Amino acid sequence: MPANRHAASRLAIVVRLSVDVGMESLVLPVDYPRLQRVQSFYELVSTPFTAGVNALCWERTLPGDFGEVVAQLGVGEGIMTLDGPTLRSLVLSAAGRVAIDVLLEDLRRLSEQELDPALNCIAGYPRDEQPGPVVTDVFSFHADSSPVEASTYLCTYFGPASEGLKNEDAVRRVDLPATRAELLQAFGGVDDDGFRIFLNEHCYDLHYAAGPGARPFSFGVGNLWRIAVDWPGSPVPPCVHRAPETPLGAPSRLLLIS
Ligand SMILES: [Fe+2]
Repeated sequence: MPANRHAASRLAIVVRLSVDVGMESLVLPVDYPRLQRVQSFYELVSTPFTAGVNALCWERTLPGDFGEVVAQLGVGEGIMTLDGPTLRSLVLSAAGRVAIDVLLEDLRRLSEQELDPALNCIAGYPRDEQPGPVVTDVFSFHADSSPVEASTYLCTYFGPASEGLKNEDAVRRVDLPATRAELLQAFGGVDDDGFRIFLNEHCYDLHYAAGPGARPFSFGVGNLWRIAVDWPGSPVPPCVHRAPETPLGAPSRLLLIS
């Protein structure tokens, strides 16, 4: 299915869901200048982040039954990392085997780029148990960070997809006056370079609140994303994102991350 029809049909589904359950819709924005759609894996890995663009999305409608793969892996806890031999050992229908081929191919081509992709079956992430003034787990909107130039690659094959927040709708939690005051109290000093190091060491400066009226968007299922991270010298702001809530008892997510 052509990408524009794919987007249109998903839009219809999401709009219907929003009406049905009264939830905030998580439509992939069509007019967000920081998001650029690409048409191939080559374009995904080779397009530079420039002119403000900090998210590249290769929209895909994948063949295969990824739900069967997740079901075969069984009910687990936490995060199970899957390797090639584990995937090949699963006893699956033809549709399940097609899904395995897709997973192996994505792992192969990312590895070929000298990346280190991981395929995870996620029943649940650890929560920030003692959050303090700023929650720093993956359910909080955040930027990934790296000491050197890097990108994050993401694809949700099954289950709730990752979510993004436009930079224009995002406020760093450390810049909220009440939160900053609380952090200063925890630091026990003044708002100087030492305080900024403290914020950085605890990753407090990587987490964001959604501003008034903000509408997060879904990364969608099957799409392969490359998003900008926070690294010294980055020409664009990092892409703000989070893991979706995974309700207790819901099927696990199948997620590729690199
Ligand atoms: Fe992240």
